[in-house]
Amino acid sequence: MAKPTVVFVLGPPGAGKGTQSSNIVKNFNFTHLSAGDLLRAERNTGSDLADLINGYIKEGKIVPVKITCGLIEKAMQEDPNSKFLIDGFPRNKDNLDGWNEVMADKVDARFVLFLDCPAEVSGRLLLVSTERCLSRGAAGGGRVDDNLESLQKRHATYENETKPVLDEFLKQGMLRKIDATRDVDAVWTDVDALFREENLA
Ligand code: ADP
Ligand code: C5P
Ligand code: MG
Repeated sequence: MAKPTVVFVLGPPGAGKGTQSSNIVKNFNFTHLSAGDLLRAERNTGSDLADLINGYIKEGKIVPVKITCGLIEKAMQEDPNSKFLIDGFPRNKDNLDGWNEVMADKVDARFVLFLDCPAEVSGRLLLVSTERCLSRGAAGGGRVDDNLESLQKRHATYENETKPVLDEFLKQGMLRKIDATRDVDAVWTDVDALFREENLA
């Protein structure tokens, strides 16, 4: 049997990973697996892991990979689709190492869709992605971490832990960077073109 195709989706909180992923699902028949959504769903079951997961989420810290990778693997096994978007993972070295150990040989990982939303451009501070998350929170998104205090921690985690993973993917020639500071349709035009170029349409 052919290995399932995997595309990772990375970028800072509020970059539009979920938004663009749902466009990819609609247009190209991928299954969307958001690591954050899987962790929130596991927390909401009230399982033994619930308190632990919620603590990590509120602090903007990365849950140990055994838990997250286990949830991803289970979701993949339960889905007959052969094309998966894995959103918000791998988010740090522990995520990447755990994935490489357990999953890398079982899938065909094609590339990383990197939705770039830099906090600073030419010395100018941009709060685009933070503001998007704050609006999502204000609109009643129901997340415990769409508040300024958690967002500052989530951004620090992104800078300190996720960026090194992006550097690693860049070295491997796996990174496909798209400017996600623009409006949803402009970003989608580039994402759509990328998936066509990569023969995933
Ligand atoms: P992520 O999954 O990367 O955290 P989301 O896709 O959930 O980001 O988007 C965060 C918030 O910003 C949502 O309320 C979404 O509707 C909005 N949003 C997403 N992409 C854009 C965009 N390009 N421009 C403006 N708002 C956006
Ligand atoms: O991607 P999302 O913004 O939904 O992630 C929310 C939170 O879930 C992260 O800030 C982090 O606490 C947790 N998470 C994680 N490991 C991942 C993805 C998300 O611990 N790979
Ligand atoms: Mg998301």
